[in-house]
Amino acid sequence: MVRKTLWVGLIIGICGTMTHGFAEEATKKEKEKSELAKVMGEIDKSYKAVEQISGYYKYSANDWQVISESSSNIIQLSKTVISKFARPDDKKYQELNKTMLAEAEKMYEVVSHKDEKGALEDAQWQVRRLRQTCALCHKHLGIHIYPQLYPGKKEEGAPGQEEIPAPKETNIPKDW
Ligand code: HEC
Repeated sequence: MVRKTLWVGLIIGICGTMTHGFAEEATKKEKEKSELAKVMGEIDKSYKAVEQISGYYKYSANDWQVISESSSNIIQLSKTVISKFARPDDKKYQELNKTMLAEAEKMYEVVSHKDEKGALEDAQWQVRRLRQTCALCHKHLGIHIYPQLYPGKKEEGAPGQEEIPAPKETNIPKDW
């Protein structure tokens, strides 16, 4: 009887220690995640600024300024993601980050010929190209942030409140 109790005690003790270890591991991951999430949040702000005006049929000087600033922000932030949050074991992730940088650079380029014919369409095209890149990467990682990017389309809590599931390959949602 006493021996049994000792055994149970020992097992409970071991389990407790293990759970503690797992919990620590989880908080560590959580920290890494929030660093990248912060950068993503900044990218998101700049992206939304250009998306918001993308339906206009004419851009004012101020609108072009928004495009110029937003695209150069995304360029800088993409470079940060590429250098600080590289995932050498995930080729697609690495490629899509480079695509995001390239599309932002193209958007910035458009501003330099904003007075030429077709510049508006070119800028709008770049918004779509960027959005597609965001979507492809989130889909690739199984990240479902559709409600966050487009609050109101789906009632799933306020932007930023949604818990982003840990990136995983399987179970890729149909939308993002
Ligand atoms: C190459 C991959 C990749 C690309 C491209 C990408 N993202 Fe992300 N995004 C991620 C990852 C990974 C996370 C999850 C970060 C975390 O929580 O650790 C994320 C998370 C987010 C989040 C949630 C941040 C939060 O507060 O938790 C937003 C918003 C977001 N991305 C917006 C964008 C937008 C807008 C674009 C395109 C302009 C974009 N992302 C392009 C990989 C990418």
